[in-house]
Amino acid sequence: MSHEDFPTESPAVVTCGLPYANGDLHVGHLRTYVSGDILSRALATIGQQTAFVSGSDMHGTPIAVNADQEGVSPEEFALEWHETYEETFPKFDIEFDNYGNTHDETNTAITRDIVRTLDDRGYIYEKEIEVAWDPIDDQPLPDRYVVGTCPYCGETARGDECDEGCGRHLEPGEIEDPKSTLTGNPAEYRTREHKFFRVSDFQEYLQGFIDRLEGTSNAQNQPREWIEGDLQDWCITRDLDWGIDYPGDDEEADDLVLYVWVDAPIEYISSTKQYTERVGAEEYDWETVWRDGDSGGGEIVHVIGRDIIQHHTVFWPAMLHGADYAEPRAVMASGFVNLEGRAFSTSRNRAIWADDYLDTGFSTDLLRYYLSTAGSFERDVDFTWERFQERVNTELADDVGNFVYRALLFATRNYDGTPDADVSEEVEDAIRDAMAEFQDALNDYSLRRAGDAAIDLARFGNEYIQRNEPWKLTDEDPDQAARVIRDTVQLVKAIAVLLAPFTPEKAETVWSQLEEDGTIHDQHIEACLEAPPETFGEPTELFEKIEDETVDELNEQLAERVAEADAAAAEAAGDSTDGDDVETDTTDDDESKPMTELEPIADERISFEEFQELDIRVGEILAAEPIEGADKLVRLEVDIGVEERQVVAGIRQLHDVEALPGTRIVLLANLEKAELFGVESNGMILAAGEDADLLTTHDDAEPGTKIR
Ligand code: MSP
Ligand code: ZN
Repeated sequence: MSHEDFPTESPAVVTCGLPYANGDLHVGHLRTYVSGDILSRALATIGQQTAFVSGSDMHGTPIAVNADQEGVSPEEFALEWHETYEETFPKFDIEFDNYGNTHDETNTAITRDIVRTLDDRGYIYEKEIEVAWDPIDDQPLPDRYVVGTCPYCGETARGDECDEGCGRHLEPGEIEDPKSTLTGNPAEYRTREHKFFRVSDFQEYLQGFIDRLEGTSNAQNQPREWIEGDLQDWCITRDLDWGIDYPGDDEEADDLVLYVWVDAPIEYISSTKQYTERVGAEEYDWETVWRDGDSGGGEIVHVIGRDIIQHHTVFWPAMLHGADYAEPRAVMASGFVNLEGRAFSTSRNRAIWADDYLDTGFSTDLLRYYLSTAGSFERDVDFTWERFQERVNTELADDVGNFVYRALLFATRNYDGTPDADVSEEVEDAIRDAMAEFQDALNDYSLRRAGDAAIDLARFGNEYIQRNEPWKLTDEDPDQAARVIRDTVQLVKAIAVLLAPFTPEKAETVWSQLEEDGTIHDQHIEACLEAPPETFGEPTELFEKIEDETVDELNEQLAERVAEADAAAAEAAGDSTDGDDVETDTTDDDESKPMTELEPIADERISFEEFQELDIRVGEILAAEPIEGADKLVRLEVDIGVEERQVVAGIRQLHDVEALPGTRIVLLANLEKAELFGVESNGMILAAGEDADLLTTHDDAEPGTKIR
């Protein structure tokens, strides 16, 4: 790895994976945009010249399908979403230097230019392939128009991506048992001529590239398998009207457009170019960054989610290299934000939307902080309001908020501002260490560590006040009191500067409380050590703690939404087995199944509300012992997260009692208490059938998790 440390002489560009102009943004998307924004602000803080760009991804089959369903043109449809995103990002202080879209003139021109170059250089060839075709509607079924089975892992896969299984990019013709997603008709394969990009020509280059690549380790590890294996060439055209026409003489003649993943990453270049067009090349020159000149381009950092690593580390660098553009320096691939251990489902409304968050009225700083520093960047995280509350209340409110308020209040009440004294060596060292850690963390692409540098400094500050007890010193030793307060005011300023990329609004508030000039967002990291103004007024509290009741309310709303989504999913799963296109359990082949006497389904329906009255929890058996005098009963101690319960269960003959501890079970927790053989039973373990087959969980849901 031969990259120079940030800040470098050459300019950087931080990009974020383009959102498909296809629906509302949720906090999963926001994790990547917030992180990109923080990275670019933080790089600027350490003196790195940085542009932050992205744009809307306007093309691709899903957009064409959805526009069709709404009866509008794909362009109109996508532009509307594009405008929505342009309004949404600033609400979260995600401030792109340029935010374009893949359908605009700049991107159309640069895309065609790159494809023409690749074509001229012999990297593109034509090949006849089989593409999915709807024989009844007589139309091609590119990408999302087709659903079938992934040839690699056997899961259901849609179009060009095995999104529920192995995550691989799928080439046209690869999906097995294809069906049209529009009509449900079984699809045929027909022969069509398509353009292919010789990714295989770049194998050696890519092997070197992946070794040089910085960023998160998943971005280097995941693609190795492909790069070191048999690299397949990549089909870069589609039978579709919506997209950028394949450049060439026969442009009008055939209706091939470029595959969306060709023009999408090129928007990173186009968006940077538009930025230069706005501010002038003296201020920021896109060509220095993107052209693979003698200097080898600028510092290109892609911030994306982990689902699109392959595109950014295989196809994209090959395209860039083939057309003489500079390669990315780093790819930061974030883990997904999940709900209760499972991915968001946008179609089923099993998600926390950007607007949901805005509706809470919480400062967007809180979400920025939580999303960008929740565990390691590449790990998936479960979004929970409890965890959000915990981190806000302890790290932001207790550590930072308290310290800042105490320090500034003391300073204004006793000195009308910054006392006239020197900063102690101890505090200067602590601040210098934090600055160095912040800079190191950025060079390691660790936002969590960069954030911790600020939080740790606040913890140090609290401890420093506690240890020095300035309130005692004001009378006993006024000089020493002044020094201590001078130190704490400096710490406040340093914390604000380091935290500004994460919590821009709150940091700006501190800046104005200190009555500093200008904005905190123009400050260089050295400002951490520059003296604050001599006078400033009384502070106000920075962070409000989030109350338990608020969390309860938010949880209730969320639980309701998840339950509805899961119910919808279950219904859909039921539907699909009723259809005639999937293997069905029809009465015709009943012979093959063992006949059991099954109870008929209850006639009476209960309402969802009634079901919700049942408080069913995951639990774990801690201890089990037979109850004397009762041959069937066992006394169990069960951990249900919130508390431990004693329950009596009639499972003695059916299970090895000694082996029960450690077993995960499912418990009806709000059943009336009962007494059996003099032993109180506080809840009921759920079990199936005569054999009392104990219900358990498929994955490792924690004790206490509610079943819905
Ligand atoms: N349009 C493509 C990206 C093209 S980049 C040249 C795309 N769009 S997307 O709308 O599906 O996703 C936008 C960004 O959000 C991507 O970086 C994606 O990885 C990220 N995420 C989408 N869902 C996410 C979560 N649930 N969690 C974290 N990141 C997520 O992909
Ligand atoms: Zn698969």
